[in-house]
Amino acid sequence: MCGIVGCILNDKKAAPVLLECVKRLEYRGYDSVGIATPYNEIELKKDKGKIDDVDQKLNLGDIPGNMGIAHVRWATHGIPTRENSHPHNDCKNRISVVHNGIIENYKELKDELIREGHLFKSETDTEVIPHLIERYMDEGHDLEESVRKATNDLQGSFALAVFSLDEPGKIIGILKDSPLIAGKNESEYFLASDVPAILKQTNNIIYLKDGEMVILDEKEGVVVKDVEGNVVEKEVHIIDWTPEMAEKGGYDHFMLKEIHEQPKAVRDTLMGAEEIKKVVKEIKSIKRICFVACGTSYHASLIGKYLFESLMDIPIDVVLASEFEYSANTLNQETLVILITQSGETADTLKSLRIANKKSKTLAIVNVLGSRATREADHVIYTHAGPEIGVAATKTYVSQLACIYLLAIYMSKKEELLERLNQIPEEMEKILKKEDQIISIAHKYKDVQDFFFIGRGFSYPTAMEGALKLKEITYIHAEGYAAGELKHGPLALIDDEVPVVAVVPPGKSHDKTLSNVEEVRARGAHVIGVGSKKDDVLRSETVDLIGLDDEIDEMFSAIPYIVPLQLLSYHISVAKGIDPDKPKNLAKCVTVE
Ligand code: M6R
Repeated sequence: MCGIVGCILNDKKAAPVLLECVKRLEYRGYDSVGIATPYNEIELKKDKGKIDDVDQKLNLGDIPGNMGIAHVRWATHGIPTRENSHPHNDCKNRISVVHNGIIENYKELKDELIREGHLFKSETDTEVIPHLIERYMDEGHDLEESVRKATNDLQGSFALAVFSLDEPGKIIGILKDSPLIAGKNESEYFLASDVPAILKQTNNIIYLKDGEMVILDEKEGVVVKDVEGNVVEKEVHIIDWTPEMAEKGGYDHFMLKEIHEQPKAVRDTLMGAEEIKKVVKEIKSIKRICFVACGTSYHASLIGKYLFESLMDIPIDVVLASEFEYSANTLNQETLVILITQSGETADTLKSLRIANKKSKTLAIVNVLGSRATREADHVIYTHAGPEIGVAATKTYVSQLACIYLLAIYMSKKEELLERLNQIPEEMEKILKKEDQIISIAHKYKDVQDFFFIGRGFSYPTAMEGALKLKEITYIHAEGYAAGELKHGPLALIDDEVPVVAVVPPGKSHDKTLSNVEEVRARGAHVIGVGSKKDDVLRSETVDLIGLDDEIDEMFSAIPYIVPLQLLSYHISVAKGIDPDKPKNLAKCVTVE
């Protein structure tokens, strides 16, 4: 994971700007932070910990120099320590590197470099990179050639930013299987892991491809070269996201802001209907659909299965992206593989996309403009959720669902359902008004150890997504289960210490789920019911009911019904004193397999 930034500024200090940019990348990792600038020597400040804590201790912005590189780390090789923090330098402290990705052959390279006399200070895979560059510069190559040669030695994934005291006024970036973009103003040049990191500085963005090298040069500006070293003319995209769209807007956390932005995110995504119709026209003769995704996007895919199978007579598979390579044998040109990924950079999903591209048609449903998935899939549909910063996916999930509903409606030619779909944002707004009631429920249950979430049909993936939200931001153990499956094993775990969240919209599965609610109540479980406010069983005294409108029937429940579950997790997280935007061990974008 990790986030990297580099910049060359005109006549102002780079470190405060790098600090500001790297803070916007903190969702990518927060094990450590560091900044390096070339001055008389390499000026370097770095340490383990969250950015604000390290900044308070080291005053990260107080480094001289008008250019530099910065990093936030999500540890893969080596525990979070100062030594393992980036940037990493070569033996002579003349080259400095920040890296996002994993170097798979670092052990062999490290042994080789140690035999050559190089001295290592960290346990990271990254540290081989400055030493390799040092080796090639010592052989007489310039920085550009040395970076190229060093990266040719690497196996794995990387996005790098490098500078050397021997070639002042220059920062080099290069990428393979990890994201990197460049940006520029008249006389200020940037590179970063994603667009929001530098959006306050510039909205002129250049998307880079694998193998390309970007050179930020004080005199020549931003130059991009291909693998052979030829200059490539790149399009400069003007991004219309405002920096405010990527900031908290008065909410305590990004996650809460993003939960409240959901009606708008769904409306904006539904406005993309024309884009979806166009894709539907292009993907004729499809006899099978296979959804592939991870985490929350996987849950959106499961809703897709229930929906497509309700509206169309074609088989639908849903495969976890990390499992796809072990099950992709039956793909063919009549199969449409739909990859759902908010970031468009998830390593498992990208790997699946590459496998699927060889055998079938591919469609990526993505939130981040210009991300890798959008460049590699045959067809692309954008969710219009805007930037999502909280690690827990919320508004991107409901936007993915909005896309899936549109796609299913157009593919099945059941346009009469559009009217119903268009009512959903309003229903979500009504649910958001129930936040005070959900806060009281959150306080009542904040100290329990285990939770079950149950539902049937469309509500089963909703239960799974509710449980995932609770796990990731409250650290409470939670399981999302098919309500009918409880009696086949997990019922043994139910007692008065294990509350059960029951997702019970009106519809086909309603009565059977209520029977399952009765089963858990009979075993002493406290129930939090999410269902119709007119439902007698749910209105019983021993149930905490989050009562929703009757009109939200099962088929259209997936989007509105997730809202109270997100709010429940958010408020339990806050009540427990956890920062829901930065849950431990997790990062927003998982760029390693
Ligand atoms: O960017 P993607 O949609 O591909 O990400 C997939 C998962 O990593 C992601 O949904 C993850 O599960 C979320 N943090 C859950 O809230």
